[in-house]
Amino acid sequence: MSYALAFSATDPAERWAEAGDAAAALVAGERDGIANMANVAALIWQAIPDLNWAGFYRFDGTELVLGPFQGKAACIRIALDKGVCGAAARLRATQRVDDVHAFPGHIACDADSRSELVVPVIANDRLVGVLDLDSPNPARFTAADQAGAEALVARIATALAS
Ligand code: SME
Repeated sequence: MSYALAFSATDPAERWAEAGDAAAALVAGERDGIANMANVAALIWQAIPDLNWAGFYRFDGTELVLGPFQGKAACIRIALDKGVCGAAARLRATQRVDDVHAFPGHIACDADSRSELVVPVIANDRLVGVLDLDSPNPARFTAADQAGAEALVARIATALAS
């Protein structure tokens, strides 16, 4: 496995497909979920443009707890009834928010964030946590970004679960 990752596609869907392939290769054979989250956060940070935060919150059975990420230091614990991340975890459904200021209960960890994409991580029917992507650009995330991020997470969810 080479750790020198390169991403060349300019089309967002193709870029996400490249990122998904790289993520699957990166976690193959490693069973430590935190190590895998750390590498996948770094990979997404490198592959996907216009982000100011990319990383994971882990579900501890009660609430979300900050996991591996790239970006500025962030809120550590998020209850499931709070924020965009809590909604994604509680509803087990991706939240794609064009304007975080218009989202009731949005938690402003980084004042630069304007839009957000949060994908729940589910493995064997169990909530592992969420992948959270933030952008300083309003409406940064398209349906193609959502589909790409969901596909990436689905491919590697069990490798994030341990
Ligand atoms: N904005 C998120 C909190 C996490 S930070 O953006 C890293 C939310 O409302 O859930």
